[in-house]
Amino acid sequence: MSIVVTGASGQLGRLTVEALLARGVPASDVVATGRDIARFKDLADRGVVVRRADFADPDSLAAAFEGADKLLLISTTTVDERVANHRRAIDAAVAAGVSLVAYTSMSHADTATTILADTHRATEEYLRERPVPSVMLRNSWYLENYTAQLPLFLQHGAVIGAAGEGRVSAASRADYADAAAVVLSTEGHAGAVYELGGDEAFTLAELAATVSAATGKQITYTDLPAEKLVEALTGAGLPTELAQVLADSDLGLGRGELFTGSGDLSRLIGRPTTSLAEAIADALR
Ligand SMILES: NC(=O)c1ccc[n+]([C@@H]2O[C@H](COP(=O)([O-])OP(=O)(O)OC[C@H]3O[C@@H](n4cnc5c(N)ncnc54)[C@H](OP(=O)(O)O)[C@@H]3O)[C@@H](O)[C@H]2O)c1
Repeated sequence: MSIVVTGASGQLGRLTVEALLARGVPASDVVATGRDIARFKDLADRGVVVRRADFADPDSLAAAFEGADKLLLISTTTVDERVANHRRAIDAAVAAGVSLVAYTSMSHADTATTILADTHRATEEYLRERPVPSVMLRNSWYLENYTAQLPLFLQHGAVIGAAGEGRVSAASRADYADAAAVVLSTEGHAGAVYELGGDEAFTLAELAATVSAATGKQITYTDLPAEKLVEALTGAGLPTELAQVLADSDLGLGRGELFTGSGDLSRLIGRPTTSLAEAIADALR
């Protein structure tokens, strides 16, 4: 059985390869793919099959997916090219005759109205229409989206956002990766739509309070109109387009589009998910 993981040069892809190995999948059954194999050639030293795959280059996809049984399609980074990239990867998976495509989508991709959800919905629809069994791994936010900002929160004494009282079911990349590994290495997932997220959702005010409790510093949450958040983010050096996507995502968070109470993630991985407090404590270590 050959399990192909795309984006293995990235964080979620690498963690998924690690989770597959930890769950006892033989390294020779795991195919790690990415654009620049130098970034993950250490996996080859551990017996993992390493192949180059660029979503912009269909020939590379055909070669990388040859002989694949299951494929994890990790959504690519550039938002404007995402759907075209994913279509090429799905076409290559169908041509390779895979038995399952697992796609890392986004919470409530069928109904959510954010810019990011649009790209995931388009990919899900394309995948469902193709003659290949599929499973949707609808990931909420990463906890790391927030823990990566801890130095900024501490510097400014503030968390800023445009999410109002919305609650986000953020979970760690490692937990999402482990869930992907379970779906890829066990049977019975074709046709499933998993709404994946942390067991304990939180508001951005609760995020600020949790950072305060962990650091002993007073951190407050300031809710801004979306256009003011874009101004603040671009003022801090973010490109305008990225700032707009982040503010748009915060509005979606405020509408409950990144919340799930499904319990799917902890059920798949067989343990409680990593909490916000644990993730913050880890990041501060
Ligand atoms: N849920 C969330 O909170 C959240 C947050 C951020 C992103 N995401 C989504 O989740 C995905 C995985 O997250 P991550 O943290 O692992 O991101 P990451 O570390 O940036 O990894 C992204 C991976 O996608 C690969 N990729 C991008 N364009 C590609 C292309 N044209 N052909 C082949 N591979 C390509 C990258 O390869 P290279 O190394 O060659 O660039 C990399 O391996 C992201 O790509 C994004 O779609 C989700």
